[in-house]
Amino acid sequence: MLVARDEGRLAATAQALTRAYAVDVESLPADLSVREQVDAVAHRLGDDVSPVTMLVNNAGFGLTKPFHVNDVEEEQRHLDVLVTAPMRLAHAALRAMRDRRDGAIISVASVAAYTPRGSYEAAKSWILSFSRWANLEYRRDGVTVTAVAPRLRPH
Ligand SMILES: NC(=O)c1ccc[n+]([C@@H]2O[C@H](COP(=O)([O-])OP(=O)(O)OC[C@H]3O[C@@H](n4cnc5c(N)ncnc54)[C@H](OP(=O)(O)O)[C@@H]3O)[C@@H](O)[C@H]2O)c1
Repeated sequence: MLVARDEGRLAATAQALTRAYAVDVESLPADLSVREQVDAVAHRLGDDVSPVTMLVNNAGFGLTKPFHVNDVEEEQRHLDVLVTAPMRLAHAALRAMRDRRDGAIISVASVAAYTPRGSYEAAKSWILSFSRWANLEYRRDGVTVTAVAPRLRPH
């Protein structure tokens, strides 16, 4: 199941994955800064008819200007995508995965999580800390929670 905002790109990616790997791919267009759309994805994660066994929280972006210069609503959307959406999706996934005693949650953090330099770094620090705790808490229930911390993409 692929989630992002751009329906055209989702459809093209789904088609490419199906062609390359002969897998069924479901697309669920959603803006993860919008609560109702996050909750629609969370609802899908709770669906036992076609269970999701691995959740990857990858969506993210950075802001280029300093915190005090950005519009506060822009900072809110940033926080919603980097923290609130992964929290709500992990919550829904954990409930379903614990019931099945099987599942994995992987969140894309960043090396930025280790350096307090701005609101992006603070948000990545949250997902790193959350994942460390949740893995200790839920691995006994058969669910692993992992954060990955890539380095900046070279230009
Ligand atoms: N690039 C780096 O150097 C780097 C380094 C360390 C960590 N990371 C992290 O790695 C992850 C992926 O980054 P990337 O560089 O691959 O970014 P990217 O190429 O810009 O891809 C971001 C993805 O997130 C989706 N997305 C963005 N905002 C969204 C929203 N509001 N709702 C739903 N989907 C949304 C985008 O699709 P749509 O636009 O269609 O919604 C796109 O598929 C992010 O969490 C980022 O913070 C990146």
